[in-house]
Amino acid sequence: MAKEFFITTAIDYTNSPPHVGHAYEKVLADVIARHRRLKGEKVFFLTGVDQHGQKVQQSAAKADVPPAEFVKEITQKFVDLWKKLDVRYDEWAETTSERHKKVVQGILQRLFNAGQIYKDKQAGYYSIRQEQFLTDKERGSDGEFGPEWGQVEFREEENYYFKLSQHKNWLLRYIENRKDAVIPDFRQTELRNAVEKISNNRQSGSDLCISRPKSRLDWGIELPFDKYFVNYVWFDALTNYISFAGYDPSIDDYAKQPAEFREKWPALQIIGKDILVPPHGIYWLIMLHAIGFPDDAMPQLLVHGWWNLGGAKMSKSLGNIIDPFLLADKYGVEALRYYLLSDIVTGKDADFSEERLIERYNGDLANNLGNLLNRTLNMVHRYCEGSLTKPRKSGKLPTDIIDGYKQLIHEYTTATVAVRPDVVIERSLYLASVFNGFIESQSPWNLAKSSKPEDREFLKDLLYDCAESLRILAILFSPVLPTSSHRIFDQLNWKMELSGKEERFSLADAEWGKLPDRHVVGKPVPLFPRIEISD
Ligand code: MSP
Repeated sequence: MAKEFFITTAIDYTNSPPHVGHAYEKVLADVIARHRRLKGEKVFFLTGVDQHGQKVQQSAAKADVPPAEFVKEITQKFVDLWKKLDVRYDEWAETTSERHKKVVQGILQRLFNAGQIYKDKQAGYYSIRQEQFLTDKERGSDGEFGPEWGQVEFREEENYYFKLSQHKNWLLRYIENRKDAVIPDFRQTELRNAVEKISNNRQSGSDLCISRPKSRLDWGIELPFDKYFVNYVWFDALTNYISFAGYDPSIDDYAKQPAEFREKWPALQIIGKDILVPPHGIYWLIMLHAIGFPDDAMPQLLVHGWWNLGGAKMSKSLGNIIDPFLLADKYGVEALRYYLLSDIVTGKDADFSEERLIERYNGDLANNLGNLLNRTLNMVHRYCEGSLTKPRKSGKLPTDIIDGYKQLIHEYTTATVAVRPDVVIERSLYLASVFNGFIESQSPWNLAKSSKPEDREFLKDLLYDCAESLRILAILFSPVLPTSSHRIFDQLNWKMELSGKEERFSLADAEWGKLPDRHVVGKPVPLFPRIEISD
């Protein structure tokens, strides 16, 4: 069976519009997907929105519109943003869709039949205003619940529970046996520590509450075995990863799942650090295990860090949300994609700043890559009537440049770099700076004045190599900067018949020397005009 590379992101809550943190995750996934396609792999990229739950019900009530209407509007904002940012996905998950509902209900019914779900009574303090049970964590230093909880009363409530704790030992073993279940490594350690803390005793609250009585929450998927309850919330949210990929809940045996599903699954799942423990690392892996997924069909979790602002978390309530639409309009889509991926190490946090965005854009794109393109094409026109001459003898490039190029291509194909766009960017920029340095040191403007035939020949070789470096750099940058890479190809007058199409770029073409002899390049047009800071 031909395997597809399946990549997913978290699905975004539709209780508030997207911010730059959401944009980072989707662009990261898009870049990884494009990188795979560049290598010739077939990719299935799934993303979408999380539309049910308490937060949405509350936000809709505040806005005085029905939840369905509320989520429709916010969903559209996410769709518009991905379109604007060139995030190219293959399937779109909306958790209110019928297709999804069927899978969630099918899975819940199966687990209920298998005795994995039971009903139990919960008693405790309940905040009427926040519509939630409170734990001791919510008590202030005086031992009381603060005024933010409004009226608090003692309540008893029946709910359904999933036997999570029963699978603790399986999960520990699975993590022990698979060293790259979670990337980066330190997140796997974090997960292992959290799993070890799960109590084996379900009475101590280690099982997962999966329902809410409809009297309290009705914006959710009804439990198939009890119409007075809706599911809350992780069975609904997490299941999207399989329900939109062709999983059939009526089939117990994993091996008998439809080919459509099995040729994709398991996925590489990109999530933020806040939703590893417990949702993805514990609930999701255990849910899959409980419905019969074998260990070798467990997804791999790629956990990214957060974009913060002045060291603090971005949040709607703090009012420090950065709007990605505004940024894209102000600096351009590619400048935003570039900044979000180049200035953060996958897995770690970074601090967002517009000054930094401008600095990286001007330094890396305008002064380095853009400059290489502009000066190369200018010189080809000025000194060679726009036409390249393929060097008759190869091997004229200094060996350190050749080695650097080979190393870059090698790293580009390896798996580690595949999830570290920042590394790919850094190495590619280095290649651009090496060629800029090569131009400086060889002074083609002097070679052009020389009457010696060997100087003329050297000048032609040099310009050919610079044009080749640009052709290859466009391929390597294409996952991060799809539009600019097309512009580089356009200016090089290369593969014009595929202009604007992603198939124009392929890693197999990143082989040195593909521009033919007498190739005529296009006119230079500044690709990355410097961003001038106005006070
Ligand atoms: N709906 C849940 C996820 C369910 S997945 C089955 C959710 N939604 S969210 O909208 O709050 O977050 C969506 C994703 O965006 C998460 O992976 C989260 O980590 C990520 N980010 C939210 N804020 C972020 C930053 N400031 N920076 C980077 N990523 C951020 O959680």
